[in-house]
Amino acid sequence: MAMAKQRVAVLISGRGSNMASLIEAAKADDYPAEIVLVVSNRPDAAGLTHARNHSIATAVVDHTRYGKDREAFERALQDVLVAHRIDLVCLAGFMRLLTPWFVGQWPERMLNIHPALLPAFKGLHTHERALAAGVKTHGATVHFVSAEMDSGPIIAQAEVPVLDGDTPDTLAARVLEAEHRIYPQALRKVAQDRARG
Ligand code: GRF
Repeated sequence: MAMAKQRVAVLISGRGSNMASLIEAAKADDYPAEIVLVVSNRPDAAGLTHARNHSIATAVVDHTRYGKDREAFERALQDVLVAHRIDLVCLAGFMRLLTPWFVGQWPERMLNIHPALLPAFKGLHTHERALAAGVKTHGATVHFVSAEMDSGPIIAQAEVPVLDGDTPDTLAARVLEAEHRIYPQALRKVAQDRARG
């Protein structure tokens, strides 16, 4: 009998191109995970439409309704994830910092994609900062989420060359292609490892 697929929620805040790459990869029969839910903290996230067009359940947990109460927002998020019997969470352009409480609910079960070669360039504006630093190689990282931002064990990385004349936009586009390649690979590996126990 085929191994049960891991049930995955993708958390987004905007465009959702990484989410789309996960949805595409998960269509393969032998992919060990299925994307069963997309959650956005922003009601207007473009990625929600893409998910709906692929008949994937969507939910909005609007952080602005919770004011400064980060944990109340996260408890609402957690309720949605539990209701959908989620095994693994993939952050994909999800622009909220998470509390240790929420991170603690998903030990080695929550992945994030970051547009830099961690531990270099944690945080925002990675492409601008990579160009300013003059690095010749930049890239993308998929890692498990730990309580500290953009830290946690690395699952996959891809290097991308920085070319003469690059702008933050041209570099971002090259890195994004790498992101779309490695996120599905990383999720496959994590889901396979979990299915094997
Ligand atoms: C990606 O570059 C991701 O690495 C970063 O935010 C961007 C999200 O893009 N965390 P998208 O929403 O997946 O298209």
